[in-house]
Amino acid sequence: MFMIDEYVNASKCQYRDALDVIEEFEKEMLEMNGKCIDIGCGPGDVTKRLILPKLSPEAELVGADILKSMVDHARQKYRDEKRLSFFQLDIEAVDLPNDQLGQYTNALSFYCLHWCHNTWRAFDNIYKLLRPGGKALIMFLAWNDGFDAYTKVYENPRFKPYIPPEDADRFVPFFHRCKDSRAALRKMLDAIGFEILHCSRREKSFVYQNVQILKSHIIAVNPFISRIPDHLKEEFEDVIVHEITSRKISFPNKKANGQQEYSILDRYHILVAYLRKPEGRVSEQD
Ligand SMILES: C[S@@+](CC[C@H](N)C(=O)[O-])C[C@H]1O[C@@H](n2cnc3c(N)ncnc32)[C@H](O)[C@@H]1O
Repeated sequence: MFMIDEYVNASKCQYRDALDVIEEFEKEMLEMNGKCIDIGCGPGDVTKRLILPKLSPEAELVGADILKSMVDHARQKYRDEKRLSFFQLDIEAVDLPNDQLGQYTNALSFYCLHWCHNTWRAFDNIYKLLRPGGKALIMFLAWNDGFDAYTKVYENPRFKPYIPPEDADRFVPFFHRCKDSRAALRKMLDAIGFEILHCSRREKSFVYQNVQILKSHIIAVNPFISRIPDHLKEEFEDVIVHEITSRKISFPNKKANGQQEYSILDRYHILVAYLRKPEGRVSEQD
């Protein structure tokens, strides 16, 4: 999953949505001091360009990602940045490394937690990473009918042999299936022990200028393309793109040279939460 160069070139939508939330929480972020963590930092561009400049000038920022390839890429690209470092971490791990517990004054995470099968454990781990009084600003995808398109493609007998059923299910986010994702998230956060300072579900949209741009985005983030044998890859990509676009609104759009192309309007929901770990309660691992 995640082809780095493809993701860097085809993640305008994620970058824009992260920027929206970061600008909205500008005041809160300026108060973020000490050691902060960006969970699911990916190639590190949002970490370095959007998050770091908004934190207090004394803050130190650590980008964490499950993929070593992402961490290596980010480390290499931003090696000269003194206040920034990167390391490998699975936020869904059953046991977090002991030396990480209670280490962070603030946690941030953009477009990562919908990749976690066990979202409860991911949030519980964020709670454990924070110091008492620490705050977290989290945004992730709640719903996108593209996930239904994926499920349909995985049922296709041409591709099914390469995608075990438990894996096909693993990448449909928990909140995608919730009728009221905001209420479900609030309940989860409450049960973990967070003080909820803000929790909202937002309807968003993004226009892909043409099908090729949408296709590049899909290829960059689809978890199974690497498992499909080479002779079926192109067919798999075309079927996925067809399934997804058939669920979206397409409209004609004239290119600068007068040629006609079709743009695609993607509608989806995100969840945004701003949280605080209370001073008083101590979790088992603190
Ligand atoms: C869509 S990218 C978002 C990257 C960046 N935050 C951004 O806004 O552009 C999601 C990232 O989350 C990472 N990720 C997925 N599951 C994770 C987990 N369990 N723990 C840590 N990172 C994870 C992926 O490897 C990927 O780099």
